Amino acid sequence: MNFPRLRLRRMRTHQQMRALIRETELNINDLVMPIFIKYGQDRKDPISSMPGLFQFSLDKLSQEIRELKALGIQSVLLFGIPEHKDDLATQSYQTNGIVQQATQIVKEVAPDMLVMADVCCCEYTVHGHCGVVEDYRGLMDVHNDKTLEILAKQAISFARAGADIIAPSGSIDGQVAAVRMGLDSAGFHQIPVLSYSIKYASSLYGPFRQAAEGAPKFGDRKTYQMDPANGNEALREVELDVAEGADMLMVKPAAAYLDVIFRVKQKYPHIPLGAYHVSGEYTMIKAAAELGWIDGKKVALEVLTGIKRAGADFIINYFTKELAKDL
Ligand code: PBG
Ligand code: ZN
Repeated sequence: MNFPRLRLRRMRTHQQMRALIRETELNINDLVMPIFIKYGQDRKDPISSMPGLFQFSLDKLSQEIRELKALGIQSVLLFGIPEHKDDLATQSYQTNGIVQQATQIVKEVAPDMLVMADVCCCEYTVHGHCGVVEDYRGLMDVHNDKTLEILAKQAISFARAGADIIAPSGSIDGQVAAVRMGLDSAGFHQIPVLSYSIKYASSLYGPFRQAAEGAPKFGDRKTYQMDPANGNEALREVELDVAEGADMLMVKPAAAYLDVIFRVKQKYPHIPLGAYHVSGEYTMIKAAAELGWIDGKKVALEVLTGIKRAGADFIINYFTKELAKDL
């Protein structure tokens, strides 16, 4: 059958008709809200690089969690900014560490809210790299296996504090296995690992690094994060993570990597896949909206829907709170 007997516009005639046949629907259950928690007191500092977002001190966190809960938001991803940094990220695995305390607060205020803990060193190291830095043939670089030990300690410590999902984000080889073995050795067999499996060395993390105060003081992250030009390599990363026992996978950033999301979902349709719509992706939309050039909310909804259509089951993104009412 062909035009004029077939007319696809017939099914677009009104809102209810379009809703009836809609293929992809964003749901509040699919969105994860990242939160930045900073040392100190009485703090709700606006993040200049990320309009609409704040760094909260621990005493201000409960109020924010209550608001998120009231909006129906089910999960948060916590990032901590400690008062003291060192070379070995020791503040990342203390019982009274910032994310550990924040986790306890979330669980007190909203026991059923999912807490994802980002496992990485860059917020906790003086140099801002995602692991232990050592000289390698005249160049300072992250030492892979020494870093794994710290990641395992972090994972156990976050799980002890009550985190529900452990998310290693450092692009360190073997991080999923290290975190899994650490969790199991401490009795946390039931805590799933969400791997930032495919994490590109992206310029879109700029605003986050200001928000989390974890920008590298020298060099860049290209010796551990992936080259944005590579798609096939992404599948190898995922393959390794699956073999190491990742329960969930992630692609990051999201909107510029829809092909990668699609390919991962095609190859592993049975493994839950997350996408991280990152800080730079957020600020590009926010900036254009503030200039009056686009409708920020509508564009955000469209982009997030596209990420889901490409194959993501859930999306970590900074619009979660702003959009919650509209979903
Ligand atoms: C830490 C981490 C980063 C992001 C999430 N976890 C920064 C980085 O790799 O430099 C970026 C998130 C964003 O830009 O929103 N490793
Ligand atoms: Zn890092």
